[in-house]
Amino acid sequence: MTDASGTSSIVIALDGPAASGKGTLARLISDHYGFAHLDTGTLYRGVAWVVMNEGGDPADPETAAAAARDYAIEKIAGADIRTKEVGAAASVVAANKAVRAALLDFQRRFAQKPPKGAPGAVLDGRDIGTVVCPDATVKFFVTASPKIRARRRWLELEPSRPGLEESEIYQDLLERDARDAARDDAPMAAADDAELLDTTHLSIDAAFAAARRVIDGVFRRCG
Ligand code: CDP
Repeated sequence: MTDASGTSSIVIALDGPAASGKGTLARLISDHYGFAHLDTGTLYRGVAWVVMNEGGDPADPETAAAAARDYAIEKIAGADIRTKEVGAAASVVAANKAVRAALLDFQRRFAQKPPKGAPGAVLDGRDIGTVVCPDATVKFFVTASPKIRARRRWLELEPSRPGLEESEIYQDLLERDARDAARDDAPMAAADDAELLDTTHLSIDAAFAAARRVIDGVFRRCG
């Protein structure tokens, strides 16, 4: 069956603010159900990295739009796109309407026809349940308190960046969330029919178990 966005496979959408745990959950869910996984943040990070690597300004609308239109995964081979600088630049290019338009088709095609014949797709980002796949089978909006998110991201980044302060990460996340939520085009938002999952006090195992309960419940109801 094909829906309004052209989706014909099972789609699990996970949206939420930076470092809320949606990426980890998306990986666990995709492994468990044998679905393909697309971390849509890598697309925006990738575009931002290409712009920066070529000495361009992520805030320049034409430069960012051209990088998004020409974007290919090979362009970021070996690049470290997980840094906080690339994250900040990603949220700048992500506010650009032409950038989002250029990346939309790829995301929808992935959801509609997951690679390697997988029976479903898990996409995580900011606008999956609202814009990319509004008819997704199951939608989650994953949150956690800013302090906890900063701590998690610091634990992830500090080993490759000794001396990185947790307070810097905290500020960075708040700024990025504010920009992502305030932009005009496809702002970060929970879809009306999204399941809210607050992971502040949950271990990864507990968050994954909670997500599985929701997904299995939907699968049972849908036969
Ligand atoms: O991993 P983290 O939660 O820090 O961020 P990410 O998912 O890698 O996304 C990086 C940036 O890309 C976000 O701050 C957003 O500005 C942008 N993004 C977006 O606008 N829409 C998406 N579907 C995914 C990411």
